[in-house]
Amino acid sequence: METILYNIRNEYRGDSLLEEQLDPNPFTQFKAWLDMAMNNGLPEPTACTLITTGTDLKPSGRIVLLKDFDHEGFVFFTNYNSRKGRQINENPNGSILFFWPDLFRQVRIEGCFAKIHEDESANYFNSRPEESQISSIISPQSEIIPTRNFLEKLWDDYVDMHKNNAHERPTFWGGYKLMPTYFEFWQGRVNRLHDRIIYEQTETGWNTYRLAP
Ligand SMILES: Cc1cc2nc3c(=O)[nH]c(=O)nc-3n(C[C@H](O)[C@H](O)[C@H](O)COP(=O)(O)O)c2cc1C
Repeated sequence: METILYNIRNEYRGDSLLEEQLDPNPFTQFKAWLDMAMNNGLPEPTACTLITTGTDLKPSGRIVLLKDFDHEGFVFFTNYNSRKGRQINENPNGSILFFWPDLFRQVRIEGCFAKIHEDESANYFNSRPEESQISSIISPQSEIIPTRNFLEKLWDDYVDMHKNNAHERPTFWGGYKLMPTYFEFWQGRVNRLHDRIIYEQTETGWNTYRLAP
């Protein structure tokens, strides 16, 4: 077995995450961490791994971009007929995961997905650059296609037929919101003695506790 990876070892020397520093609301705590990731010029700070599992119970993950969040949940946009869309349709439970390596931070968020309102999806769709709109319309995301040329021809044919037209959001494309019941804020610390703080939803609010690293 190749063991060269054994020697790749970084020391994590992040700030502390102590109970007295926590915001009682996990969404506010998340905002503080996201703001720090954005203000530090980290590449793609809104990129997160989205984990979904259909009825076959085989989890799958991929990156998506967080596009909005409020005190109810976290929104991303995609093709509802994609593999992830089909899995969410079968099983609305899932998770998103942020990793901000420069800050030695990870955030796990678990909960339940729901489609957002069509008007909100249309709003965001209309705000996108034209090329992104066309790509969402013509790409049968997650379907097998024969060649690169096939995709480019879908693009060219669409563009030929819709010169100077506004592009309408297709009904198969829109947003999902993950409404969390569980957050974990992970802060890398020296000697691998990392901080892990959990927020778990209860009937009366958010319960917080610490896990061993
Ligand atoms: C940086 C980055 C950002 C991405 N953002 C999105 C996104 O916001 N929405 C999306 O549907 N796919 C996005 N993708 C592509 C997905 O990772 C994935 O390839 C695609 O959604 C198909 O996934 P599926 O077949 O599991 O449904 C992104 C990929 C990367 C690397």
